[in-house]
Amino acid sequence: MDLSRYITTKDSSPMLTEKRLNIVFASSEIAPFSKTGGLGDVAASLPKAMAQRGHNVVVITPLYGHLDPQKMRLSRRLEPLEVPRKSKNQSKLEAILWESQLDHGVRVVFVQADEYFDREGLYGDAENSFEDNAQRFAFFSRAVVEFTRVFSLDVDILHCNDWHTALAPIYARHYFEDEFADTSLMLTIHNLAYQGKFNSDDFDSTGLPKKYASDSELFDADGDLNFLKGGLLYADHITTVSPGYAEEIQTPEGGAGLHEVLQSRAEDISGILNGADYSIWSPEVDRHISVQYEVETLNGKRRNKAEVQHSLGLPVRPTLPLFGVISRLTEQKGIDLLIPTVQSLLSDLKDERDGFQLVILGEGPTHFREQLTALQKEFPKRVVFQHGYSEQMAHRIQAAADVLIVPSRFEPCGLTQIYAMRYGTVPVVHATGGLKDTVIDVRENPDTGTGFVFDEHTQDSLAGALERAAATYRNYRKWRPLMVRAMEKDFSWNESARHYESLFRASRESTAAE
Ligand code: ADP
Ligand code: GLC
Repeated sequence: MDLSRYITTKDSSPMLTEKRLNIVFASSEIAPFSKTGGLGDVAASLPKAMAQRGHNVVVITPLYGHLDPQKMRLSRRLEPLEVPRKSKNQSKLEAILWESQLDHGVRVVFVQADEYFDREGLYGDAENSFEDNAQRFAFFSRAVVEFTRVFSLDVDILHCNDWHTALAPIYARHYFEDEFADTSLMLTIHNLAYQGKFNSDDFDSTGLPKKYASDSELFDADGDLNFLKGGLLYADHITTVSPGYAEEIQTPEGGAGLHEVLQSRAEDISGILNGADYSIWSPEVDRHISVQYEVETLNGKRRNKAEVQHSLGLPVRPTLPLFGVISRLTEQKGIDLLIPTVQSLLSDLKDERDGFQLVILGEGPTHFREQLTALQKEFPKRVVFQHGYSEQMAHRIQAAADVLIVPSRFEPCGLTQIYAMRYGTVPVVHATGGLKDTVIDVRENPDTGTGFVFDEHTQDSLAGALERAAATYRNYRKWRPLMVRAMEKDFSWNESARHYESLFRASRESTAAE
């Protein structure tokens, strides 16, 4: 990376000596307005970090039903956005655009198209996806391209994210080759498990000409329409959210059916670790927690623990480690591994001073909800299951827990373990993707370790890590330095935003050279 391009000022915020980039960041979620997981966090924090580096950034995102422009005091753009849904300019729908500003001058543009977005939920309910998701996100991708072309001047980078905006590079290159000649089209994979796969009959919803219907670029071998696959083939550059995951997705085991497509683009793939926004996720400034604290005032963490134990009806026992889980309840997240492992560990306890307490915050389908409710019923003094989505509860658990468990089968990056470390909440993670890239196992690295890493995705392996964590907790002389090392790790966006910037510049240069 060429650092000579920047003059670093005292507070280490770089001063741009090169052209400021104009970036449009397209995302189906942005925290705090709409969020189902880490994409929402990244869509808020990465643009802020890029703006802090001196770039102009506009985020474009849908106006979902739960968002009220009046209450949010959004300003309405006078001109609507005309979005063609068929071929270059047919079947237009007028979308209203609303605008808001985040820190550092990041503009957020909300696209209002009620027939697609004015309903409860972003993608569906806990059990099922909406049936018209192909139409909804083909429309949104098209809106992104129209917005970039019509309203934004000289866009250097159109940064798309996940399958929801993966058709944008195809629309840009197919319909507007000249207009987008100087724009680099980037696509970030946040999670390859979600590809935007639809029945081939949904092809019409893309509005693309028939020639694409017979083209394998938009279809899987089994004949399904696949938005992400198309985007991966048309984007100029592909990134994903950790170096480890960038490698995994190019293997048959980790490629979710797209490893060959990804291998064919190997030269154009980079893994850049996500960062944390410490103005939101840090116990020194966290407005959601009872007592703010930092390394010098760790007693504050104990008070948060007692408060959470008390309010959730757990015995207030400082000597028992409190384990936490904050997660979507899915197979990816290893919830099916966690439940029997905890069940077996708690069933084997001989003494009530042994073991741990566990609080789980999660939203997901009925079968996981039922199993977790049953676990709580079986061990009422040990387990609390909080069903649902609560930003405040997520912060309170980060501050209160001693250990955060992330037993994911695979994990592109994972943010909860990164946040946990800042709160002195020591992570227990499976050795995969971004979890492996961010947590250092303390048994293997006694002086630098920041958590507990288990290798095999099995009950034995997870149970071993949980027991190691509980045993270490009971030895404060070992536990304190481990917490402090975790708290002192720096996962702020600085370094990663710098990587994106270098990549964007390199990509601009090669787009310009073509
Ligand atoms: P993913 O994006 O795969 O869900 P990440 O770890 O990257 O995983 O991000 C998860 C984000 O969603 C974090 O900000 C976490 O705090 C939040 N989160 C997950 N489940 C819940 C929940 N039930 N309530 C509140 N926040 C949640
Ligand atoms: C996805 C991944 C998660 C990642 C997040 C943000 O939802 O599952 O690992 O941290 O996106 O990039």
